[in-house]
Amino acid sequence: MNDFTYKEQQLWCENVPVNKIAEEVGTPFYLYSYSTLRNHFRVFTKAFADVPHIVCFAVKANSNLAVLKALIAEGGGVDIVSGGELFRALQAGVDPGKVVYSGVGKRVDEIEYALRSGILMFNVESLQELEVINLCAQDLGVKAGIALRVNPDVDPKTHPHISTGLKENKFGIDIERSLETYRQARSLQNLDIKGVSCHIGSQVTRLSPFLEALDRLSNLVRQLQEEDFDIRYVDLGGGLGITYDQEVPPHPAEYAQAIMAASRDLECTFVFEPGRVIVGNAGILVARVLYTKSNDNKNFIIVDAGMNDLVRPSLYNSFHAIRPVIEDNRKEIVADVVGPICESGDYLAKGRKIPAFQRGELMAVFSAGAYGFTMASNYNSRPRIPEVMVKDNQYYVVRKRETYADLIKHEEIPSFLINK
Ligand code: LLP
Repeated sequence: MNDFTYKEQQLWCENVPVNKIAEEVGTPFYLYSYSTLRNHFRVFTKAFADVPHIVCFAVKANSNLAVLKALIAEGGGVDIVSGGELFRALQAGVDPGKVVYSGVGKRVDEIEYALRSGILMFNVESLQELEVINLCAQDLGVKAGIALRVNPDVDPKTHPHISTGLKENKFGIDIERSLETYRQARSLQNLDIKGVSCHIGSQVTRLSPFLEALDRLSNLVRQLQEEDFDIRYVDLGGGLGITYDQEVPPHPAEYAQAIMAASRDLECTFVFEPGRVIVGNAGILVARVLYTKSNDNKNFIIVDAGMNDLVRPSLYNSFHAIRPVIEDNRKEIVADVVGPICESGDYLAKGRKIPAFQRGELMAVFSAGAYGFTMASNYNSRPRIPEVMVKDNQYYVVRKRETYADLIKHEEIPSFLINK
């Protein structure tokens, strides 16, 4: 369910017509529905109401302060992968006790920042990282909460670029070696070993990979408990998929039921790190058609948003539904929807059956709330586009459009080139 709906053939976000925002803000822009965002979070957390749990939103999916603030206000924590994400989450008022820090490449300054901020735990991905965290904690005179992120070697059956829980992936510590790594962790004085974590991949549309991973994790937890490790948290990562096209992923309630049923004997607080399932369908990208053209066998619809704004189609060949903001019953054509970037890979859709868009029309690119703006770049010196949030019948620009001056604000011409 989301709050992007057509009323009399016009697209609305909650109670605001999308074309009104486009007229006032200009295109392209990202548009988020506050009510959808909040609903998705509530549905997810309510699904686990019967067990102790923390929902740590994966900031990488959407790091806008307003989005973070909205979720934090609902009691959410965050899953971060960098000092920058920690900074954002703290600015948005997150409770540091609900912050988990994942990622294979944490720098010392980032670890120290997280320790000083008092985060819940690091999901540690290697023995060397464990040792570095221990030393940082010693220097700061604190204990670092940690879980080992184990790689359970399950196939999430998703796009290879976003699968993370297979042996061949760089993520986590091989589950077979993890017990030994936990024993090594015990010999380090400045760690508080709190839990076990995993994340198997993203856009997972079946339950079985999650249950397989949980089964392997539960075995590990049992072994650890036998050795008197005080395991208080089981972090199952994120990864629950959404509908972009025809996929029918499990509803969060089904996901929760299956997980709770399979883990009755685990007396732990669960941590979840959902990203996409919370924000993906709470956002769209709105673009305007610049030109249309055809050659012998192809139609092109050229829009003002490019791969620098939404890279998912170019990077993963992923599908985003596309519809006119103002619909009529026109004929459909098969076309490529492409952006202005000088790369053949710059497209939002390829060979898509789509209404015959005309120059000047507005286009809605759906399911763009997750990994949309966060993966945007300034390629081709294109200022990054604004983000807008609607609540009921009001809209708020929650990130301004960048200016040309923004593009160069960190650059400097060295003295030897001045006066040349
Ligand atoms: N936790 C960890 C440790 C992760 O690496 C990720 C995503 C998540 C949680 C959140 O996963 P989600 O619930 O959103 O599936 N750029 C790609 C997705 C990359 C996902 C990376 N990790 C895309 O656009 O599809």
